Amino acid sequence: MREQLIAAERIKALEWKEGALWLLDQRVLPLNESWIECQTSVQVTQAISDMVVRGAPAIGIAAAFAVVLAARQRYQDEPHSWRSAMEEDLQQLAASRPTAVNLFWAIERMRSVLAKVPAQTSPLPLLEQAALEIYHSDREANLIMAQLGMEVIRHHCEAPQHVLTHCNTGALATGGFGTALGVVRAAYLAGLVNHVHVDETRPWLQGSRLTAWELASDKIPLTVNADSAAAHLLREGDITWVIVGADRITANGDVANKIGTYQLSVLARYHDVRLMVVAPSSTIDMQLQTGADIVIEERTADELFTVAGVQIAASVPAFNPVFDVTPAHLVDVIVTERGVVEQPTLEKMQQLMSHAALH
Ligand code: MRU
Repeated sequence: MREQLIAAERIKALEWKEGALWLLDQRVLPLNESWIECQTSVQVTQAISDMVVRGAPAIGIAAAFAVVLAARQRYQDEPHSWRSAMEEDLQQLAASRPTAVNLFWAIERMRSVLAKVPAQTSPLPLLEQAALEIYHSDREANLIMAQLGMEVIRHHCEAPQHVLTHCNTGALATGGFGTALGVVRAAYLAGLVNHVHVDETRPWLQGSRLTAWELASDKIPLTVNADSAAAHLLREGDITWVIVGADRITANGDVANKIGTYQLSVLARYHDVRLMVVAPSSTIDMQLQTGADIVIEERTADELFTVAGVQIAASVPAFNPVFDVTPAHLVDVIVTERGVVEQPTLEKMQQLMSHAALH
C-alpha cells in the first residue's frame, strides 16, 4: 500500500528550491496554477496571512522555512546581533494566523535548533536541515495516518463506503498527500471508499476549489454540495463516515477545525454517522486543557461578501469566524501518526502523546 500511496503523491503546496520557498498560490486555484517565490520571512508571513498557503501542517512547514529566511537575512545584515534582530521576524510570523498550532509548533522547533547554533557560526545549515526535516516528517506522517485511518474504516465495514469531508486536508494542506484526504485516498485505493461528498466550505471554498480539484485529478468519484445540504445528505444518503482534519486538538480531545465542522459533528451523531479526525501529532496542543482556550480566527467581511473579487452583498456588519471547536465527546476517532484514539479523553490523549514522536 505504501508504494501505491507514494505513487498517488502528485500535487505539492510548497517547494524549497535554491534557498527560496515557492508556494502554489491557493487563492487562485483551480483556475490558475501560479507559484509565488518567497525570499524573505516577511514574504512568507504575508503569504500565510493572505492564504496563499493554508492548512495547518502546510502553514507549519512554511513557517519553518520562514525562520531559515529570517536567519539568512539577519545574519547577512547584522552578523553580530542577528539572533536578537530575528526576534521581530519571529513575532510577526507568529502573528500571521492564530488558530493552527502547527505554526507555533514549527517556530518553537526552529527556536530550539537556533539555540544550538554555536556563536560566530552561520545558522543556515542547521536551520535548513531542521526545516527540511519538518517538511519530510509531515509527509511521512501522512503516509502512516493514511494506512491507520484506512484500517479503521476496514474494521467497521469491508464494503465500499460513501464519506463526507469538509475543507481541504489534502496535498495542498500538508507536506504529503493529506491527512483526512490521505485516509480517503488510501481507502479508495483499497476499495473501501467509492464516493466522496465534498462540502464546498464557505466562505473560502476550500472544498469546491481545492479538495474537488485534488480528488478529480486522482479520478476519485466525488460530488460537491453546499454546506447547508449536509443534514439532508446525512439523512438521505448512505454516508457512513465524516472525515475531517484539525487545526488544533487540545489535551482533552476537543478539535478546532474549519468553521462548519462542529455542526457536522452534531449532525453526524444525530444520524448515527461516525466522525473521524485525522491530524499529525504536531496539531495536538497538550498545553491547552480544552477547546474553550483556543483562539478562533475571525477574518474580514469581504470573504463573505465578495465572490472572485466582485461584491455580491450589501456592506453590512458580518461575523466571519473561520474555525470552530468540536467537543471530544462528538469525535469517534482521532487518527495520528502515533496511533489511533477512539472516543478521546485526557487520559487517552496523554497516553498517545507519550508514544515515540515521529516529529
Ligand atoms: O483556513 P484554512 O484553509 O487554513 O483551514 C484549514 C483547515 O481547517 C483544515 O481542515 C486543517 O488545517 C487541516 S489540514 C490538513
